[in-house]
Order: sequence, then C-alpha cells, then structure tokens
Amino acid sequence: MAIGKIVVESAAQAAKTVAEILVASIQREPEIVLGLATGETMRPVYRMLLKLAFERDCPMNRFTSFNLDEFVGVPPNHPGSFAYYTKSELSANLADAGSRINLPNGMAANPEVEAARYEAKLAASGGIAIQLLGIGRNGHIGFNEPGTNFESRTRVVELATETRQSQHLFRGDAPMRAITMGIGNILEARKCILLATGLVKAEPVAAMLNHGVSRYCPASALALHCDATAILDHEAASLL
Ligand code: F6R
Repeated sequence: MAIGKIVVESAAQAAKTVAEILVASIQREPEIVLGLATGETMRPVYRMLLKLAFERDCPMNRFTSFNLDEFVGVPPNHPGSFAYYTKSELSANLADAGSRINLPNGMAANPEVEAARYEAKLAASGGIAIQLLGIGRNGHIGFNEPGTNFESRTRVVELATETRQSQHLFRGDAPMRAITMGIGNILEARKCILLATGLVKAEPVAAMLNHGVSRYCPASALALHCDATAILDHEAASLL
C-alpha cells in the first residue's frame, strides 16, 4: 500500500488535522489505545488536542497510551526526557493519568529488562489503534535509526550522531542510548499517522514517499502498512 498524504498550508493546520483525528477517535472509542510520539513537531498537537477535547466535551479520562521511546539514563525531571515532555504537554492536564500514560522507564537499573517489560505491557493492552509518529532528519521513526530491521521490537538502541545533535534540550550532551518500540511494533498499529512540518523535514519526507522502501529510510517501512498517512505542511512537502 502507498503511504497516504495530506498536505496543508501551515504547521499549525497540520497539527490541528492530527488533533481532529485523535479527538474524533477518542469520542468514538473512549477506551482507545494510542501510541504517542514526542519531539518539537508534536507539541502543537497536544495543545490542540487538549483544547478541542475541552471544547467538544471529549472524554479524556479513559484512553491508554504508550509512548514510542525514552532516553536511557535521563531522569523524568530533566526537561529533555520524554517523561517530562509527556507530563507537561499531556498528563498534567488529565485526570487520573498515572497508570494509563505509559513510557519506557529510562532510569531502570537494567534497560534491556525494561524494554521487555514495556513490550509485554503493550502486548497485554490489546494493541495500538492509532500510532502517532514524527520523522527524524535521517528518516528515523521512534528511535529506529537508518539500517534498522523492519521486524525489530522494543529494545535498547544507540542513537545516531545526527539524532543526538538535534536534541537541543540537552545542550550538546544528549544521551547515547534510548529504549524504543521497534518498526515491527509500529507496523502492528491499526493506523499510523506521521506528522512532518518545516523545511528541515523536506528531505526525509521525500525519501519516505518518493524513493521506495529501504532500511536506510526507516519511515519508508510505512509503505508496508495498510493504513498509514503522512500529514505535511507545504515546507515538509516541498521536495515531493
Ligand atoms: C519522539 C520520536 C522521534 C521524533 C523525531 C522528530 O518520540 O520518536 O522519532 O518524532 O525525532 O523529532 P522533532 O519533532 O523534534 O523533529
């Protein structure tokens, strides 16, 4: 299947398009299981999701979510951790968020054991209905860097130099490793939505949509999914 594509005028409109899909899905199925992404691209999505949910009386107290990834060795009170991000952008605004907003624990004594625990909890949830994804400048999804096997599962990975350099909240000292869901996990979601905005994403978006399926562009694996859509602003779509 080809990856679907929606191109809108601005980054704000792209985020709103994603938030609209999420609100409608939660309204249809309040106990939905969501796969969440972090990153700068996704911040306006959470803000719009909370706004629309409030305006439309959408029940936000019953969904379960699993974040894609977390850095190894970064405490949850560090602004660069995805735990900190998810708390400030989402869970701090939800009632009773504790046990239903899941992230890998980057501070676990044994990260490999933690990856296996996370994988088992994800499996026990019944599976992800909608997986949100950003895209890295090198085409990564989650922290599945170029070269990753498309059957990969939740595990500990080494981050690419380019990925570490783009983590501005660590001021040049980004962690070396992360726990991430694998491409195999991502492809099992019933629906995948990838959001990319800005000129910096034009090259990886073109590699994903125009250059065929390749392990060297992990996001191109979405072409193997039967319901994957890329939501793009004009800048991210400018090389298509
Ligand atoms: C984050 C994640 C990453 C980001 C990607 C883009 O949970 O899984 O794949 O989506 O690195 O990040 P931004 O949006 O900061 O460019």
